[in-house]
Amino acid sequence: MKVAFTSDNIAGASESVVQAMVEASKGDAMPYGNDEGTAKVTQMLSDFFECDVDVFLVSTGTAANVLSLSAMTPPWGGIFCHEESHILNDESSAPEFFTGGARLIGIEGADAKIDPLLLKKAIEKKVGDIHSCQAASVSLSQVTEVGSVYSLEEIKAITEIAKEAQLPVHMDGARFANALVALGCTPAEMTWKAGVDVVSFGATKNGTMASEAIVVFNKDLSKELAFRRKRAGQLHSKMRLLSSQMIAYLSNDLWRDNAEHANAMMALLQDGLKTVPGVKIHTPAQANMVFCTLPKGMADYLLSQGYAFYTGRWGDDVIRLVTSFRTPKEGVEDFIASAKRFTE
Ligand SMILES: Cc1ncc(COP(=O)(O)O)c(C=O)c1O
Repeated sequence: MKVAFTSDNIAGASESVVQAMVEASKGDAMPYGNDEGTAKVTQMLSDFFECDVDVFLVSTGTAANVLSLSAMTPPWGGIFCHEESHILNDESSAPEFFTGGARLIGIEGADAKIDPLLLKKAIEKKVGDIHSCQAASVSLSQVTEVGSVYSLEEIKAITEIAKEAQLPVHMDGARFANALVALGCTPAEMTWKAGVDVVSFGATKNGTMASEAIVVFNKDLSKELAFRRKRAGQLHSKMRLLSSQMIAYLSNDLWRDNAEHANAMMALLQDGLKTVPGVKIHTPAQANMVFCTLPKGMADYLLSQGYAFYTGRWGDDVIRLVTSFRTPKEGVEDFIASAKRFTE
């Protein structure tokens, strides 16, 4: 098969992550996170975020998201998110299940970013009305589901509205590192300094095998999260294996190198696509994902040539392309050359 742009989770894990798991699997260690490695992860993430954080490792991004939301939202509450968000469209009914029935409320906004004014309006609707679902929390995705990245000002515009209404803010950071290198800011600036209470710190798409961290800045939520993680079956007995992945991910700038590569490959791909007649790029890619409309027949031609990407979910001739820490440069160049051949 030629290069695949299906998703960033089709790539396996970085070698140092696998190696770290092999090392961590030797000998005995206390279970359920009472091992030295797990304590080290908390220390490393506290250093990373320049803040004394609580950390709950889980094995999927969905678990990180829905557990975070469940700790900040009562069953009668509403969670405001973008209408394109993963929690609303791609996590089955897990948010409803884990919150005990809270309602996800999709807000519109260009480039899959929540429009602050629409958010404000929605939050102010029916406050205190016993018959109505009550505003309870806000969740934003960084990177967004269409490959755009909120600027720090855009994050603050959302969190300020949330804070005015005393609502906690969650960030779905499944592609946290890609967003961070795109903005060139610090992890602290993109999160707690911008008013975020909890982040789902994704790592699996960017090099780990199955290790995601719920990073808590607002520690009022921590006690509840601890009990909820166990109840959800996410308190892994061999936590040290998840921790070893996260330690490797945070060591020697692996997170940064991997994200920079994925973003650079997307920039190359996007620049190439601009030179292919008839290709229309939707939201310009800022990180490692882009949607575009292809001329009739091009998607089928490229698939027949052995390239892989998702198609069909977003309407005729619209495809999604995602690069990863493993995407080869030659693969990107070949893909563009093939697309051009189709138009000749
Ligand atoms: C924006 C976003 N959030 C969260 C996730 C986490 O999903 P998973 O449970 O598959 O790890 C994904 C994965 O596709 C995603 O794209």
